[in-house]
Amino acid sequence: MALVGRMLVLSKSVLALVLAAVASWACADDLQARDMAAACSACHGTYTGAKPGKASLAGVNKDIFTRNMMDFKYGRKPATLMHQLSKAYSDAHIERLADYFSGLKQ
Ligand code: HEC
Repeated sequence: MALVGRMLVLSKSVLALVLAAVASWACADDLQARDMAAACSACHGTYTGAKPGKASLAGVNKDIFTRNMMDFKYGRKPATLMHQLSKAYSDAHIERLADYFSGLKQ
């Protein structure tokens, strides 16, 4: 019985460790998304809302954002700038940016 008790304690500790690792991974993920998003804010007014003549990315529709970025990246959407900028991001990064920006308040 004592052995079972000890194993239970041990498995709870392992679970706690796994949960802590997952939680810190999620945080690192958020930070990475914020870092990537910071590169966009100069032109898009990411955090403070739209500036005249510039589209804010805060609160964008996730699907539209992803489609626009993929279209820029794969040359389906003509652009003066974004076709080049978008190539710096993997498809997974674009998904992460979509999650990040769609979660921001407008
Ligand atoms: C140097 C200025 C600049 C930066 C930095 C920039 N953009 Fe853009 N963005 C533009 C311009 C200009 C357009 C209009 C399309 C074009 O001519 O390139 C645009 C258009 C867009 C659009 C399409 C908006 C729409 O409604 O059609 C999206 C989405 C977008 N940018 C996302 C981003 C993301 C994400 C980043 C950061 C990774 C970023 N932009 C960084 C200048 C910028």
